[in-house]
Amino acid sequence: MSPKKKNQFPPVAGLNVLEAGAEAAQLRREIKRHDILYHQKDAPEISDAAYDALRKRLENIETAFPALATQDSPTHKVGAKPAREFAKVKHAVPMLSLANAFSAEDVDDFVARVRKFLRLSDDEKLEILAEPKIDGLSCSLRYENGVFTQAATRGDGEEGEDVTANVKTIKSIPQKLPKGVPEILEVRGEIYMTRADFEKLNKEQAKNEDKVFANPRNAAAGSLRQLDPNITAERPLKFFGYALGEISSPIAETQEGIRKKLTQWGFDVPEPEALLDTPEKIVSFHAKTYEARPKIKYDLDGVVYKLNDLEYQRRLGFISRSPRWAVAHKFPAEQAETILRKITVQVGRTGTLTPVAELEPINVGGVMVSRATLHNEDELQRKDVREGDYVIIQRAGDVIPQVVKSLAEKRTRGSKPFVFPDHCPECGSLAVREEGEVARRCTGGLVCPAQAVERLKHFASRSAFDIEGLGDKIIQSFWEEKMIRTPADIFRLEKYAADLKEREGWGELSVKNLLDAIEQRRTISLDRFIYALGIRQVGQATAKKLAQRYGSIDHLLDQMKQCENRESEAFQALLEIDDVGPSVAEDLVDFFSERRNRKAVNDLQRELTIEDYVAAKTRASAVTGKTVVFTGKLVTMGREEAKAQAESLGAKVAGGVSKNTDYVVAGEDAGSKLKKAAELGVKVLSEEEWQALVKA
Ligand code: IVH
Repeated sequence: MSPKKKNQFPPVAGLNVLEAGAEAAQLRREIKRHDILYHQKDAPEISDAAYDALRKRLENIETAFPALATQDSPTHKVGAKPAREFAKVKHAVPMLSLANAFSAEDVDDFVARVRKFLRLSDDEKLEILAEPKIDGLSCSLRYENGVFTQAATRGDGEEGEDVTANVKTIKSIPQKLPKGVPEILEVRGEIYMTRADFEKLNKEQAKNEDKVFANPRNAAAGSLRQLDPNITAERPLKFFGYALGEISSPIAETQEGIRKKLTQWGFDVPEPEALLDTPEKIVSFHAKTYEARPKIKYDLDGVVYKLNDLEYQRRLGFISRSPRWAVAHKFPAEQAETILRKITVQVGRTGTLTPVAELEPINVGGVMVSRATLHNEDELQRKDVREGDYVIIQRAGDVIPQVVKSLAEKRTRGSKPFVFPDHCPECGSLAVREEGEVARRCTGGLVCPAQAVERLKHFASRSAFDIEGLGDKIIQSFWEEKMIRTPADIFRLEKYAADLKEREGWGELSVKNLLDAIEQRRTISLDRFIYALGIRQVGQATAKKLAQRYGSIDHLLDQMKQCENRESEAFQALLEIDDVGPSVAEDLVDFFSERRNRKAVNDLQRELTIEDYVAAKTRASAVTGKTVVFTGKLVTMGREEAKAQAESLGAKVAGGVSKNTDYVVAGEDAGSKLKKAAELGVKVLSEEEWQALVKA
C-alpha cells in the first residue's frame, strides 16, 4: 500500500464501525511494518511526516471508536518521537579502554612498571583495588546539581552517542542524587544484561520472529542503541558504576572511596571487590573470581586492577588510549572442537596474506563461530593444520577466534599438508616474504582489489572517518559497482544518488542519511586523517604523534617529500619522533613517495577540510614549544613520568639529540647523548635544574 497523504483520509465521522475496524487493523499492520523497516532494518520507505499521518489517523479512529482500541496498538507507545540517528556527544574527559594482561607475569610487569614510574622503594606499599570486569558496554552518565542530564556511549573515546532518552528507562540508574554531590559529576560504568534476562529476552524475540542475540553483551548493546526509547524500556538493562569522568570537586581520595560514594548514592558497583597488596593475593583473587563465574548472574571477562590511591593515579596519567594505573586481567579463553572445512587466504589492507579456517559452525562460550584465524604461513606450517582436520578453536572476549591445534590422530588417510600460495589469491601478483618478516605480502599494491577495498573499509571505519552507514558490505558492493574506487570517491557519491535510490532495500531516506553522514565528515582532524590513510605500522597513537609534530597536512606532505632523501634533516627529524623507529619511518616515506598514494591524498584535500592539529590541553610554561631529551637515570621520577610531565607542559620529547634539541636533561650515568649535546652546544640541565625550570 502506498502511504496516503494526510488530507486523503476521509473524515472519521463518516465511517461505520465495520469500516473503522478494518481500517484500524490495516493501519496497525502498516505502522508495525514501517517500525521494523525503520528501527530494525534501517531502511525506511516513507518520510517522517507520512508516518506521523498514519499514526494520527489510527489515533483518531481509536478515539472515535474506543471499543476498537487494542492492547498492542502502536498508539499505546508513549515517549519521544524516535530520532533518525543519535546526536554526538564530545566527552569532557576522554573515555579510555584498558590495557590487557593475560598471565600472572603480565600482572607482575604491570605492578613493576607502576612502581618504577612512581619511583617507589621496595618497602613502600602499593594498594590495588580489584573488581570484576563486566562484559557489557561502557556508558558515561552526567549529573548536574544532582540531576541526571545526559548519558553517552563510549564511541571512539573522544566522542560518543547521546543515549539519554534510552538510559532514562534503566531502573537501576538513579535520576536524582542526594544533596551534597558535586555540581558536575560524571559516573562511568557498564550497562549489561544478566544471563537469565538475556535468555528470556531471546525466547521472546524468537517467538515474535525478531532478532535473536548472540550473547548478553550484544543483547545489551542492541537494546541500548535503539532509536526508539520505548523499545529500550522493555529490555532488562542494568548498570554498574566503576569510575568517574568530569567532576567539579573531588569526592574521595581512593578508588575504594569512589565505590563507597557511588553505593551511598544508589548505584550498583561490581562485586566481589578486594584490596590487594601482594602478587600472591592478586593471583588468588583472579582464580577465585574465575571459579565463581558460573554462580555470578552476569558475564565477566576478567578482573580489573586499579591503583587505589587517586594521587598515584593522577601522577601516572594515561598512555595513548588507556590509563597507566589500571589493567584488565583477562580470563582464560573458551575452547571447543570442530571440523575445519576449508582454508582460505585473505588479503589485508597492507597486502598481508592471512590464512583463515572456515569451520563447521560451533558454539564457543555462548558465541557461534564459523571462522578462525590461522595467523600466518609459519604458524600454519608449524601446527600442520589441514583441510578436513578436527581442530581445537578458542575465543577470548572480543578477540578473533583462533585455531589452537589440529587433532592429527583423528585425521583420515590421504589428507595433504596445506600449500601456502606464493601468488596473491585476489590479483595474481607475486606474494613475497621479506627477510625477517613473518608475513607474506601481495606486491600488487593498489592494483590489488582486495587491498584497495580493505583500505577503503579502514578509511570509513569508526576510528578513522567514522562514516555512519558506510559499512564493510556496502563498501564492497560500491567498489564492485565502480562507484567508489578511491577514498575521495566517497565524497563524490552524490552523483549516484538517483541510482542508489533504486537499490533493493534502499529508499530516498536511506540515501539521504548516507549522504548526510558523508557530508558531516568533510571536516576532519589531522591525526584522524593520517590514521585513515592506512599506512603500514601507523596506528592511532603514531598518527597522533605525527599530527602533533607536523601540525598541518601541508607541512606533513612537504616534510615527507624532503624525507625521500634519507640524508636530509627532515628524515632525521622524523626519526626523532617518539614511536617512530627506522622501520616505521621507511613505511611512511614509502607511502608518500608512491605516486598513486600522493594522488589519493591530493584528491582528498580538494574534498575535505583537514584541520590543523590542536594540542591537547597543556599548561603554558618555560618549556612550551621546546624540544627536550631525557638521558641517564632520573631520581625524583621515572623516565615515563618525566616525559608525560614535559608533554603536559607543551614540550616535545625526542629520543635523540640533534641541533633541534633545546635541552638535554641528564640524570645519573648519562652517556653518549650527553657527549653529543656537548658537541652540538645544546644546553644540558641537571634534574634539579629541570624541575626548577618547569616550576618557574
Ligand atoms: S575501569 C579509564 N572497571 O572494560 C578506564 N572498566 O576493556 C577505567 N570495564 O572501557 C575503566 N568492567 O568499559 C573499569 N570494573 C571495571 C570494568 C571496566 C568493565 C570495561 C570498560 C573499559 C573496558 C576496557
